[in-house]
Order: sequence, then structure tokens, then C-alpha cells
Amino acid sequence: MDPKQLAGRKAADFIQDGMTIGLGTGTTAYHTILRVGELVRDGLKIRTVYTSLETRDLATKHGIPCLSLEEAGHIDMTIDGADEIDPRGNGIKGGRGALLYEKIIASASSKNIWVVGEQKLVKKLGAFPLPVEV
Ligand code: A5P
Repeated sequence: MDPKQLAGRKAADFIQDGMTIGLGTGTTAYHTILRVGELVRDGLKIRTVYTSLETRDLATKHGIPCLSLEEAGHIDMTIDGADEIDPRGNGIKGGRGALLYEKIIASASSKNIWVVGEQKLVKKLGAFPLPVEV
């Protein structure tokens, strides 16, 4: 299994029965979502909230109950990827154009997990061109 797949799947270990989970967007979150789909098929009872339409469609395809934030209200934990992380743990997201909704979901979450490979670790944030939503 490649490291991104391994890390994405592993993040699902933090999910507990009864939680409302924010599902991130991107190639790492993709693997988390597939793993969550397996857990749901095995009987895990959760609700999820999507951070993009891409994520909503993927989650739904894999049988994961998926709500908007308005429907869910509160989120216990969100699992997402990120684009850059600095040595102090600050990060940049939004590289796939889902920044606004990802920020809203992250703010509504009691806990956020960012799943990143070491290629995302930078000395200083900002090398990455970031789409801005207006
Ligand atoms: C979405 O806009 C981004 O913030 C993604 O969460 C980020 O780009 C994820 O990167 P990976 O595709 O490498 O997981």
C-alpha cells in the first residue's frame, strides 16, 4: 500500500461510533473516505459532513450517510489533507479549490486531523499558489 493510502486509511481509526465526521477533499481524503465506507458497511454508525461536492458524491457512492453542515449542525472531528505545513503546525489548504467550505467545516469541528506526507512539510508557508474565493 502506498504511504498516502496508508495514512489516509489510518486516520479513520480515530472515528468512534456515534460521531459526526467532516470528510475532507483531495487525494488523501479519498483514501479516508474509502476506509470509512468499509467501516460503515461493517456496522459503524456515524454521520458525515462533506467539504466539497466531489467528497459528497464519493461518500454517497460508498454508502456513507452524508449531510450538509446546515443539516448536521455540529461536527465532532474532521479529517482532511493539507497543502503545506510549517514547523509550528500552521498549514495551508485550498489547493484543490475547496478552501471556503473546508474552512467553514473546520471551524465547526471540535477537532481537526490533517493527514499529510513529508513532502507537505515546509520551512515557511506560501510557496503554493492558492485559489481565493470571493
Ligand atoms: C482542497 O482544497 C485542499 O485543501 C486539499 O485538502 C489538499 O489539496 C489535499 O491535498 P492532497 O490531494 O495531497 O491530499
